[in-house]
Amino acid sequence: MAVVSLLKNDSTVSHTQGRLVPRKVRFDWSKTPLEWIPGQPFASHFINEINMILPAGEFWFCRLYNKVLPYVTDDKLRDDVQLFIRQEAMHARAHGSAIAEYLKAHGIETERNTKIMDWLFESLLADQPLGMKLPKFLEKEWLVFRLGIIAAVEHMTCVLGNYALDNRNWDKVGADATLLDLLRWHGAEEVEHRSVAFDLYTHLGGGYLSRYYLSCITVPLVIGLWVDGAAHLMNQDPRYAGENFKAWKPAIWLRWAKESKGGHLPHPLALATWQLPFFSPWYDPVKEGSTEKALAYLNTSPAAAAAASSGQSALTLVK
Ligand SMILES: [Fe+2]
Ligand SMILES: [Fe+2]
Repeated sequence: MAVVSLLKNDSTVSHTQGRLVPRKVRFDWSKTPLEWIPGQPFASHFINEINMILPAGEFWFCRLYNKVLPYVTDDKLRDDVQLFIRQEAMHARAHGSAIAEYLKAHGIETERNTKIMDWLFESLLADQPLGMKLPKFLEKEWLVFRLGIIAAVEHMTCVLGNYALDNRNWDKVGADATLLDLLRWHGAEEVEHRSVAFDLYTHLGGGYLSRYYLSCITVPLVIGLWVDGAAHLMNQDPRYAGENFKAWKPAIWLRWAKESKGGHLPHPLALATWQLPFFSPWYDPVKEGSTEKALAYLNTSPAAAAAASSGQSALTLVK
């Protein structure tokens, strides 16, 4: 069993406590119902959409971080980044398995949503955006710009991780244990590695002003893509026949706000408000979550426990 210390080494730019642990998890989707939160089809579809959003984005994080590793001059941060890559690759594979073995098995059409994400990350945000070769002097700028996008997204995934770890309403109504474990294992690792993207962005020269406007672009884009993809899932459910949800129409946003009162989804305004700390000049990702809470879940997660028993190390914090 690996043991890490909470003590931060002041000689490093890293703010990650101890060493991150990649956990090689597997999920058995054979018994997970489409309405995995009983009585909550809207919330079930809405959260299922993250399975489509995440894999292309997280594999893009991995490619970009591998590309910037040679620029990292801090040994602890380089180690954080390498372990972050392994965690994110596992997240992408786990959500990919949910698409292939769960959503498709229930007859859900997923290609429309995954194609949008593939275009975004493999074309628009590629090293050569939309196939354009950038002049040499812009290559580093383009890298740092995209690192800022990742830092903004990682703030969102951290606060959503907190939400998944804290939300007991799902347990009260008997939500599917496998999907809950997927959300909480992923959410806990997002909390665990919450400082890495911001440390890397600032280490490579990312500044406050660019962080500000990048967040103004990234947050509405992520929420808009989420709602757009969720609408496509809702429109396949006969219970929403006649609604024809579209992201640019108010109906799905109003419905989201209404459904969130049941406690199975964050309210859209709450989600927007949770992004505000990232806009502060004094933003500190360490303060956005609790590593102890994340590790407490990871040490009891069925998937992480199975990974640990098959040779992956569990983690204990000592102070
Ligand atoms: Fe992730
Ligand atoms: Fe992450």
